[in-house]
Amino acid sequence: MTGFRTLDQADLKGKRVLLRVDLNVPVENGRVSDATRIERHAPTMTQIADRGGKVILLSHFGRPKGRDPSQSLRPVAAEVAKIIGRPVAFAEDCVGPAAEAAIARMRDGDILCLENTRFYKDEEANDPVFARKLAALGDIFVDDAFSAAHRAHASNTGIVSESELPAYAGRAMQAELDALTRALDSPARPVAAIVGGAKVSTKLDLLGNLVSKVDVLIIGGGMANTFLAALGKPIGTSLAERELVPTARNIMDKAKGLGREIVLPLDAVVAQKFEAHAPSRVVDIDNVGPSDMILDIGPRSIEQVISVLARVKTLVWNGPFGAFEKEPFDTGTIEVAEAAAELTQAGKLVSVAGGGDTVAALNAAGVTSRLSYVSAAGGAFLEWLEGKVLPGVEVLTTRADRKKGPASSRRAVGSR
Ligand code: 3PG
Ligand code: MG
Repeated sequence: MTGFRTLDQADLKGKRVLLRVDLNVPVENGRVSDATRIERHAPTMTQIADRGGKVILLSHFGRPKGRDPSQSLRPVAAEVAKIIGRPVAFAEDCVGPAAEAAIARMRDGDILCLENTRFYKDEEANDPVFARKLAALGDIFVDDAFSAAHRAHASNTGIVSESELPAYAGRAMQAELDALTRALDSPARPVAAIVGGAKVSTKLDLLGNLVSKVDVLIIGGGMANTFLAALGKPIGTSLAERELVPTARNIMDKAKGLGREIVLPLDAVVAQKFEAHAPSRVVDIDNVGPSDMILDIGPRSIEQVISVLARVKTLVWNGPFGAFEKEPFDTGTIEVAEAAAELTQAGKLVSVAGGGDTVAALNAAGVTSRLSYVSAAGGAFLEWLEGKVLPGVEVLTTRADRKKGPASSRRAVGSR
């Protein structure tokens, strides 16, 4: 397993512990709507506090352009307090006098959340001066944010490389890497991947890489429409990225050349508008009308996907099938999730899912605890699947053993 140090090796008593968490949780009307990430971080926070460390939470939130009150971490900090059942103080800034004063007031075992690190453009630029300012606030650095480890930003990589802070992996970071490695480093074959979600563009590299690594690639969600368009099928007013049709064609050609299977919808649930409970009907995939909008996969497509799951041994899942946030267009995602959970519980399938929308959809379907593993990470999960070295993990490894040099690259899921 990866060569980094964990809390087991850390001397925490009386130390100012900069704890990088991922508090980038979905918030609707000022309320945290899915607290999965906070729950995953809870053991790290409480263990450090119980061992007498001063817990200083460091996180980004959203993608603000500069300081923006609507992107404050304050309401998220309140949710953290509720979940761990302890007070969590808040500082209006992540560096400078406000942060310093709040930290100076801390006693051993206290927990403080600093304001959104992305209020400074220096965070994403991984600016060394800013990274040193962050590092100066603590004695020890603990990174628990696997879900942000695909970013090389000041609060997760610069803070280590620009300082002498001892660096450790937190419990959630450890758990994610352990579980993903166990399930996917040499997966039972055949392997199927479900890749859904709205846009091909954000998952382009992934699709191109994954098609050579899995046996069956099941494409769902809005991105399936771009592939259907590439096959010359009518897609009406459905969401699609027409400029990516040639790319979709390339991916299908690549799959054919490699003898891999790509599974696309056979039928669809269509409506005239994108609204919950909009009047809808099921049509064969060749019969989508000019004013129809595809909002979910239909019953034959659901059957098709379930039959694939029944003949593979490992499933990797990122991205829902339909417009799952609007009922009843969550049906395809829910029925496939239920089937995956049943096969998993019967010992016939290893199922690993990840991604913000995916986790929300699986939580809504009530299957999360019946899959083999659900990652709290989205982008990081995907890059890990592709076999990329995640900078946020690599920096911990390098700090743990400088003599060995940088971590070697790992194999992608199912590399043969
Ligand atoms: C995520 O939600 O995937 C992580 O928090 C990273 O956020 P980002 O995609 O805005 O960098
Ligand atoms: Mg994201």
